[in-house]
Amino acid sequence: FWAHLYAFLMLYSLLGCEWLSGQFPLTQNVTVTEGGTANMTCRVEYNDQTSLQWSNPAQQTLFFGDKKALRDNRIELVRASWAELTISISDISLSDEGQYTCSLFTMPVKTTKAFLTVLGVPERPEITGFTKPAMEGDEITLICTTSGSKPAAHIRWFRNDKEVTGTKEVNATGKSFTVKSTLQLQVDQSDDGVAYTCSVEHVSLSSNPYQVTEVLEVHYAPHVEISHSAIIPQEGQYFKLECVSKGNPLPEPVLWSKDGGELPDVERMIVEGRELTITSLNKTDNGTYRCEASNYLGTSGAEYVLFVYDPNAPGQQDPDHALIGGVVAVVVFITLCLIIALGRYLARHKGTYLTHEAKGSEDAPDADTAIINAEGNHAAEEKKEYFI
Ligand SMILES: *[C@@H]1O[C@H](CO)[C@@H](O)[C@H](O)[C@H]1NC(C)=O
Ligand SMILES: *[C@@H]1O[C@H](CO)[C@@H](O)[C@H](O)[C@H]1NC(C)=O
Ligand SMILES: *[C@@H]1O[C@H](CO)[C@@H](O)[C@H](O)[C@H]1NC(C)=O
Ligand SMILES: *[C@@H]1O[C@H](CO)[C@@H](O)[C@H](O)[C@H]1NC(C)=O
Ligand SMILES: *[C@@H]1O[C@H](CO)[C@@H](O)[C@H](O)[C@H]1NC(C)=O
Repeated sequence: FWAHLYAFLMLYSLLGCEWLSGQFPLTQNVTVTEGGTANMTCRVEYNDQTSLQWSNPAQQTLFFGDKKALRDNRIELVRASWAELTISISDISLSDEGQYTCSLFTMPVKTTKAFLTVLGVPERPEITGFTKPAMEGDEITLICTTSGSKPAAHIRWFRNDKEVTGTKEVNATGKSFTVKSTLQLQVDQSDDGVAYTCSVEHVSLSSNPYQVTEVLEVHYAPHVEISHSAIIPQEGQYFKLECVSKGNPLPEPVLWSKDGGELPDVERMIVEGRELTITSLNKTDNGTYRCEASNYLGTSGAEYVLFVYDPNAPGQQDPDHALIGGVVAVVVFITLCLIIALGRYLARHKGTYLTHEAKGSEDAPDADTAIINAEGNHAAEEKKEYFI
């Protein structure tokens, strides 16, 4: 143990002296984006006029002190002193990546390595592999490809800003990578006009990913529906039917018909685009109206049965009015009946009175009265017989 400790301390002090004396080249790893410029710096704390040198991964000397050793216009001297040797390499390419060596020509030579990392910038992505337009029900494939990235780029997919996952494939091509992401979709009409965005993220792009967007176009057969303006169409009213049609390509024009034939009255029935307007409804407009729309994928139709109400027809009047009318009629009827009955009663009552008068002779309390009563009673007598 003591031997080990001693050896360790010896080594430590030796290295420590070396570090303290500063007679040692120091470098840093450098990361540069393709096309950029890399500054390679080598420093020595203390230098007793010993030369510094930079060499490339292929062990070729680039600069020996301030003297250029390799013919390469991209490589320039930035600073050369006993304490520092800095060179710059411009227009960096992926092939410049590797271990660079700074050497201090003491006896023995001391070297230190700096790793130059070159980031490959991905190419702007492309979306390929699909047919446009697609038919409803088709299985389509969207492929987003970007090459030239190092390290491999990351691809993300968005369907109208909502992220979806694709299948990733990475191939090394030379020193960089080709990244491919595939989305497989079965499209329907809801995909028509939907934007699919491929986003390429990479360290060399910081937080500004490359994006490319493809808007899907899906063709589908028409579907029509009829919407109407009034709930209870009445005579004389303005009336409008609209043929609401969907489909891609948009089915145009829509065709209107009535009861299986042409519209009968072009004066009052005006077709404008998808709308059928009847300026003033007539009972004769009763019937089944149909609208039809077609595109190359098919035809769709919808029907509306029009029933024109007559605002004056009794059956269709407001129930309150009908009720009131009914009550009034009943009251009038009863009143009439009462008047008739009263009239009859009065007539009958008068007849009875006359009869009583005629009867007077029999009922008279004495002969005198009876004689008086009997006077002029012939007519009454006769009348009585007539009534009975
Ligand atoms: C390299 O060094 C030069 C000179 O000091 C400086 O102007 C330049 O910005 C440096 N470039 C990089 C990439 O550090
Ligand atoms: C420099 O890069 C090399 C290779 O990537 C690595 O092994 C080393 O640890 C790095 N050195 C520093 C100081 O980062
Ligand atoms: C990756 O390599 C395989 C095999 O060589 C090839 O079939 C495929 O098409 C390549 N993919 C890309 C994205 O280049
Ligand atoms: C309905 O049409 C008939 C025949 O065309 C016409 O005689 C009548 O006046 C019309 N009625 C209304 C309320 O327009
Ligand atoms: C309209 O249709 C209704 C119900 O089918 C019917 O009662 C009415 O008489 C019709 N009117 C005309 C003018 O055809």
